[in-house]
Amino acid sequence: EKGGWSSFMAKEVSEEPDAVANTVRGRIHDGAVVIPELDGLDDLFRGIHRILVIACGTAAYAGQVGKYALEQWARVPVDVELAHEFRYRDPVLDSGTLVVSISQSGETMDTLMAVKYARERGAKTLSICNTQGATIPRESDAIVYTHAGPEVAVASTKAFVAQITALYLLALHVGRVRGVLSEGDSAQAVAELEGVADKIAWILTHEQERTTQLARWMADTRSVLFLGRHVGFPIALEGALKLKEISYIHAEGFAAGELKHGPIALIEPGQPVFVIVPSPVFSPLLHDKVVSNIQEIRARGARVIVIAEEGDAAVLPFADEVLRIPLAGPLFEPLLAVVPLHIFAMGLAEAKGLDVDQPRNLAKSVTVE
Ligand code: F6R
Repeated sequence: EKGGWSSFMAKEVSEEPDAVANTVRGRIHDGAVVIPELDGLDDLFRGIHRILVIACGTAAYAGQVGKYALEQWARVPVDVELAHEFRYRDPVLDSGTLVVSISQSGETMDTLMAVKYARERGAKTLSICNTQGATIPRESDAIVYTHAGPEVAVASTKAFVAQITALYLLALHVGRVRGVLSEGDSAQAVAELEGVADKIAWILTHEQERTTQLARWMADTRSVLFLGRHVGFPIALEGALKLKEISYIHAEGFAAGELKHGPIALIEPGQPVFVIVPSPVFSPLLHDKVVSNIQEIRARGARVIVIAEEGDAAVLPFADEVLRIPLAGPLFEPLLAVVPLHIFAMGLAEAKGLDVDQPRNLAKSVTVE
């Protein structure tokens, strides 16, 4: 079933372009998002005043990325909550809250219990799920399936990019239904979304080998930090989680702006730091701020590995390594920047001789609370 691949994870990373393309397929007509599963829910989308995203682990990071898109395109305030934290306080819920759960397996007990709890308290629930007929979608009022195909490796990769894609489709749909997103802005975002699969394929073709080589050189590393900003922040968290999970290396992700509030104290000579650099074309202000963060950590001896857009020359003087991603419009970078991080975690675990598909102490689907 692995085909010619060394692991399911390697196969599934190679399927990231398809995961995005298949999740988009059949949901775009004449440049507009059409999600047949959401027919008849227009009044619901018009009536909500809040969206609460509930998920665990990697799926929760997809939710954090989706928050930016939902707020920008659908103009609804969004909170993202870890499912296991959610129902152990007294959360405020009403019929104007749409609870969006995200789960690859659709069986994660923490997420399932949170969805049930929300439903019992009058919230409407929508499930983003990769597994047809799983328990969480069955317990929800509406379903948007991701079409990443079965994911076997414990570490979630192709499902993650498919989850972000589904959230973007949802955000564009809800924005149009609520009348807050123009046809032109929607069409532009749709065109970007349709281009993402090819851009991920470009990364796999052009940067996979170099990224894997870098991971091999770093096989003895004891700690890696990840910095990102805006939509790059959840990607930094995802990069750190994947590295911990399959290579057993200490890793932490930070919002780049937090550096000076504490984490910069961790920087000592030789400390590897991945930095996800915002687009100089689309986010020049954030780009410059992140470049100055890079200068600050570099001055303290960090070994800086940047993930930057093709053509971004401003990062070159300060970077020890540069991994390139294609130019992408605002909000679309996370779907690209995460790919080298998945490749890196996998390469490092392989270099350490570990089983990347079955990391210790973990199960693919966590069906206990
Ligand atoms: C990390 C990973 C986990 C899952 C989490 C939720 O690589 O795979 O963090 O994302 O356990 O699982 P699902 O999406 O099945 O609810």
